[in-house]
Amino acid sequence: MSDATTTQPGAEWWRTAVIYQVYPRSFADASGDGVGDLAGIADRLPHLQALGVDAVWLSPFYRSPQHDGGYDVADYRDVDPLFGTLADADRLLAEAHDLGLKVVVDLVPNHTSNEHEWFQEALRAAPGSPERARYIFRPGTGDGSEPPNNWQSVFGGPAWTRVADGEWYLHIFDTSQPDLDWLNPEVPAMFDDVLRFWLDRGVDGFRVDVAHGLMKAPGLPDVDEDAITTGSMESPFFGQESVHEVYRRWHEVLAEYDGDRMLCAEAWVHPLEKMARFVRPDEMHQAFNFVYLETPWDARRLRQVIDESIAEFGAVGAPSTWVLSNHDTIRHRTRLALVPQPPHGVGIGPTSVSKADAEVSLRRGRAATALMLALPGGAYVYQGEELGLPEVVDIPAEARQDPTFHRTNGEMWGRDGCRVPIPWEADAPGYGFSPNGASWLPQPASWATYARDAQVGVPGSTLELYTEALRLRREHALGAGTVEWIDAGPDAVAFRNGDVVVIANVGHDAIDLPAGELLLASTELHAASLRADETAWVRVPR
Ligand code: NOJ
Repeated sequence: MSDATTTQPGAEWWRTAVIYQVYPRSFADASGDGVGDLAGIADRLPHLQALGVDAVWLSPFYRSPQHDGGYDVADYRDVDPLFGTLADADRLLAEAHDLGLKVVVDLVPNHTSNEHEWFQEALRAAPGSPERARYIFRPGTGDGSEPPNNWQSVFGGPAWTRVADGEWYLHIFDTSQPDLDWLNPEVPAMFDDVLRFWLDRGVDGFRVDVAHGLMKAPGLPDVDEDAITTGSMESPFFGQESVHEVYRRWHEVLAEYDGDRMLCAEAWVHPLEKMARFVRPDEMHQAFNFVYLETPWDARRLRQVIDESIAEFGAVGAPSTWVLSNHDTIRHRTRLALVPQPPHGVGIGPTSVSKADAEVSLRRGRAATALMLALPGGAYVYQGEELGLPEVVDIPAEARQDPTFHRTNGEMWGRDGCRVPIPWEADAPGYGFSPNGASWLPQPASWATYARDAQVGVPGSTLELYTEALRLRREHALGAGTVEWIDAGPDAVAFRNGDVVVIANVGHDAIDLPAGELLLASTELHAASLRADETAWVRVPR
């Protein structure tokens, strides 16, 4: 157990934390095989401390055949050799804690890899056996050659695959990700042990993958034909109320440990009231605010989602979170500049990411971040956004690795464009991502300008904007503050949080700034007014 003490209810670290998402494959590669690893992350942790975040969340680094970037776990209690060893994980945890950074790890309970020993046992066992009962095996329909129902995989194609003896198994994601049967008591028992395994090693929390998907509607009924859409959020396999039992149980497990351990739900559910059910006092602690992520650059809709988020999460005593980018969605600077802005739901099928105007995109991306980081609650920053990275849209088909691309014969591009290894040093091979320039996805030739060493200490750089915003956020306790709306016109998102007035110009016409001390501007200001796609923080004591 950690020796960190537990704080008073209401003052836990995660309520106001800025959590930086590391996608291990693409963060830093110490071994030189072109795939990021735990040693690489540990070496670069001081940069994250300097950036000023409170915690890091690591996407999966467990033993896995990597058919879905590690979200296909073959052993929940071991590190994949691609990423290092358990000793590397321990070192990473220790070094992060020494730097004052909390560490949140990913937990993938909806499905295992098809290489997990349970699934291998299930394949060897007969229909009806206890080994098969840990997963969702069913006979087919008709003469048995049709799937048990009409469910579609989030990654495209049927959600069922037939095995040699004729039975079918369910996989809401890739064929290599069989869904577990959470009604089988062996499954929750195994995950209690997995939680304890990592809690004992000192992790500060878990980001829970597909938290809305663990339970399926009784009888596995067909999806209403009219409602079949890839990644549908309301369906017999997503958003069932019975999932909450699981999180009440996990709440108890975490409560056995000191140090305010936390759970964050990845739950793509609508509306916000339903999302907030994941963070009732006896369940999880945070939920990603995907409704905010999905909100277009539109002042009225932004004001509305901020209000509703604070109200709905507040109604259950939880902080809201705010998030703009992650490893599943089009990077926000690119996404917010697209016309029309694409639906990004699970973010898995950007069919039409084309040419977003590069200048609008960066200005708007930075303005959106400056708005987000001024909001009370927790916030998530995805690796590379602090460098201003755009989505990479021209990855050649043969280099693409997301199963979505392959399962849809290239119709959906998938998520490789936001997963390209990030640039550290402008002049180094592979921009310093790996010692020899190797990279599992090709890095654009134009990325030297985004490299961290090209931005550190450079006034006006995106990295300096993030660093300064995080410093000011802490200094003015914005994470623990409140939103009091100010009327600055229909195209403004304007509010006071403590002694800071925040204004984002989401329209075209200039907006006057209030008199006061200018603390932060998302772009260099030319006058006491904000142009389109600019956000400013002004200190205006009451
Ligand atoms: C959500 C994860 O963020 C995504 O990357 C993954 O493909 C699916 N869940 C399936 O685990």
